[in-house]
Amino acid sequence: MNLWLPMAAGAGALLAVASFVGTDWDLPPVDTEQIGYRGTGMYNSRDRETEAALQAANVVPPAPWEADPEGDRAGDIYENVQVLGHLSDDQFNQFMAAITEWIAPEEGCTYCHNAENFATDDVYQKVVSRRMIQMTQAINEDWTPHVQQVGVTCYTCHRGQAIPANVWSRDTSPEPQPGMAGYRAGQNVVAKFGGNSSLPQNALEDYLLNDTNIRVHSTTALPTGTNPNGTKETENTWSLMMHMSESLGANCTTCHNSRAFNDWDQSPPQRVTAWHGIRMSRAINNDYIVGLTPVFPDSRKGPAGDVYKVSCATCHNGVQKPLYGVSMIEDYVDALSKKTQTGVPDYGTYVPGETLTLEPAPEPGTTSSLAPALAPAGATGERNVAAVVGQ
Ligand code: HEC
Ligand code: HEC
Ligand code: HEC
Ligand code: HEC
Repeated sequence: MNLWLPMAAGAGALLAVASFVGTDWDLPPVDTEQIGYRGTGMYNSRDRETEAALQAANVVPPAPWEADPEGDRAGDIYENVQVLGHLSDDQFNQFMAAITEWIAPEEGCTYCHNAENFATDDVYQKVVSRRMIQMTQAINEDWTPHVQQVGVTCYTCHRGQAIPANVWSRDTSPEPQPGMAGYRAGQNVVAKFGGNSSLPQNALEDYLLNDTNIRVHSTTALPTGTNPNGTKETENTWSLMMHMSESLGANCTTCHNSRAFNDWDQSPPQRVTAWHGIRMSRAINNDYIVGLTPVFPDSRKGPAGDVYKVSCATCHNGVQKPLYGVSMIEDYVDALSKKTQTGVPDYGTYVPGETLTLEPAPEPGTTSSLAPALAPAGATGERNVAAVVGQ
């Protein structure tokens, strides 16, 4: 008889546990990987269910067909081909078929073309695409410290949609009154582009458009008054870091040893790649995306009137290596791996129907910042390759 009491209590406890571990409140099965020496806390954790969904969503589409590089050049056959004139006719048509699948699979060729005359620049999407081709070529040629030989195509960002799923623009959610919140202005709203945290909401503008200083760490154990950065700057850096982690589906430890966030020698090599990624994203936005502002209609701009811009998430889409590191570039080497014509038209004068002619290419290094800067001293990451092996 006395057995009933503990059994009832046990059943009650089980019920309580079950209510937490029920269908809605799932305890995620997590895979944990050791990425550094034992005892240094270097582990990455991934939710198995999220991982399975990401694997399914990040599959590379096959090329429409294998293109024949021989034959007449597109520039000689067609009227208004300004960037891809060096391709063979077959390569050119293969590329047109591919971008249709990548950008506008439902709408087809007329998403970018006037069906009456494919040569005109009637449709603004065609003008944007020409610039996007130049941008993709520049990413693949100039930014190998970030994209390696894997490279990117339009699909890396677009995934079958005209507007990539993960873009950002100025967040105009009401900011708390500066008087009320003091230095925390811009906080206590959900920062959509800061990993949905309550950290500052416009950090991407500071770091992926402007060149605001990211380093906030003190290099001495006790305050000496030499570090000008306070909580405000640190929270702004943190907001960017939340964005980077969320974009890659990565933990802070993917790039840092949390005992010394600042120290490059204790950081995994991924941090150096990320350092280049910050500069690359900034260059993409400043040299390519922002310049297209006059061409985009208002419906393609954010609430503050700025165009949708690129962040880490635009390419990475929640995965540490976009598309799990599978390269698509080999099928489009001639179209996308090298810069061909780097001139820029005057987008301010765009009138649908009139051909927008690319200006002659600027002298190297005069206008474009889309060239990789040198990584900071001590940021080679090489010394830590051993640490990544783990032991
Ligand atoms: C996402 C936008 C986009 C889509 C979709 C697209 N094109 Fe194009 N097309 C362009 C751009 C940009 C150019 C100009 C390239 C250049 O200047 O180097 C072009 C040029 C052309 C030209 C050359 C016209 C001339 O005489 O100058 C032809 C032909 C063409 N496309 C055919 C097609 C076909 C066929 C399809 C559908 C299978 C298609 N395009 C889908 C963007 C697009
Ligand atoms: C690094 C990411 C990235 C890559 C790579 C990229 N795009 Fe884009 N693209 C964007 C962003 C961001 C926008 C949205 C800009 C806006 O709407 O303000 C955009 C917009 C466009 C649009 C306008 C769609 C519309 O309806 O307004 C077209 C067309 C387009 N891209 C074509 C291309 C083509 C073709 C390529 C490959 C040659 C390409 N893009 C590569 C990021 C990218
Ligand atoms: C994908 C790699 C990556 C991830 C993930 C990442 N960081 Fe960073 N972090 C960097 C890079 C690169 C810098 C240096 C940026 C620069 O100097 O331009 C940096 C800088 C910092 C700094 C400033 C260091 C200094 O010298 O003052 C702090 C603090 C920081 N990260 C914290 C975090 C936190 C917290 C997380 C997790 C929420 C995180 N990071 C996730 C790459 C990463
Ligand atoms: C234009 C597309 C694009 C953008 C934007 C981009 N990346 Fe990447 N990233 C790539 C490609 C491609 C690779 C190479 C992947 C490979 O080696 O398979 C890469 C690799 C990386 C890696 C190395 C992963 C590893 O495990 O070796 C890190 C870390 C990274 N990116 C961080 C970032 C951060 C942080 C940002 C934003 C500040 C960013 N990336 C923006 C395309 C992009």
